[in-house]
Amino acid sequence: MSEPLLSIVDLKKHYHTKSLWPFGKKQVIKAVDGVSFEIAPGEVLSLVGESGCGKSTVGRTLTHLEQATSGHALFEGQDFLMMSSSEFRPLRREIQMIFQDPFASLNPRLKIEQTLGEPLFIHGLCSTWEEARNKIAIMLETVGMDPMVMKRHPHEFSGGQRQRIGIARVMILKPKLVIADEAVSALDVSIQAQVLNLIKKLQQDSGISMLFISHDLGVVRHISNRVAVMHEGKIVEIGLKNEIFEAPKHEYTRKLLSSIPRVKTGRELV
Ligand SMILES: Nc1ncnc2c1ncn2[C@@H]1O[C@H](COP(=O)(O)OP(=O)(O)O)[C@@H](O)[C@H]1O
Ligand SMILES: [Mg+2]
Repeated sequence: MSEPLLSIVDLKKHYHTKSLWPFGKKQVIKAVDGVSFEIAPGEVLSLVGESGCGKSTVGRTLTHLEQATSGHALFEGQDFLMMSSSEFRPLRREIQMIFQDPFASLNPRLKIEQTLGEPLFIHGLCSTWEEARNKIAIMLETVGMDPMVMKRHPHEFSGGQRQRIGIARVMILKPKLVIADEAVSALDVSIQAQVLNLIKKLQQDSGISMLFISHDLGVVRHISNRVAVMHEGKIVEIGLKNEIFEAPKHEYTRKLLSSIPRVKTGRELV
């Protein structure tokens, strides 16, 4: 494997919650409890596991939406996990996140051109609106949308179209690493396949690295190079996609595979 773009070492996120009872003990929820993995340039690593196993918490700590409890996260050799928000700012463009619900991440009051354009100015990627609109038009076409939609607002679009716009907003910044958290889970199955194919094509064309978080093994099978299986805050098995799907070593991986019937055909999304 070439030098990793991202190396995560012993990442932990523990939540301290109060007991519901007056003299009860404080509880510690070990949402992420010592996770380590690497992602090479141009590689897609999927993080799979049942709901509540800690997948999103990994994504949120890596994008500084939440402060990790401890660990290291090296991006091109630079440890950014415990950086202050001002120290992390230069990396924000390079490490981008695609969310499950694009509506929640698109400001309903802003036209699409503002949503896509403003980050271009913030990150110094263009200096005039003419230049920005050109980039936006090209990006919208790349994600299969008519450039004219830049004059519209998010509520005018279907879920699949909104996710395309969400993807455009991420890709227009030319990140090196994209963390996609359940990026197609909220979409109808037919739309899921289209958006998943789009993500895969953009990833391959641009050569970016991706951490693809999903509870859906059918989706993961379609997009990954390697797969990490997470259970109760820990990675129980990590390997090449075919190793995980064809010859799982860990009992939990086998249980996960057997509990999802669509994986047996595995072709619905191709
Ligand atoms: N802010 C929080 N406070 C307390 N517990 C939390 C918080 N956020 C997540 N958790 C808990 O952490 C665990 C992992 O959550 P999450 O990362 O969202 O799982 P997944 O994405 O795999 O479904 C769950 O048990 C969840 O209830
Ligand atoms: Mg989640």
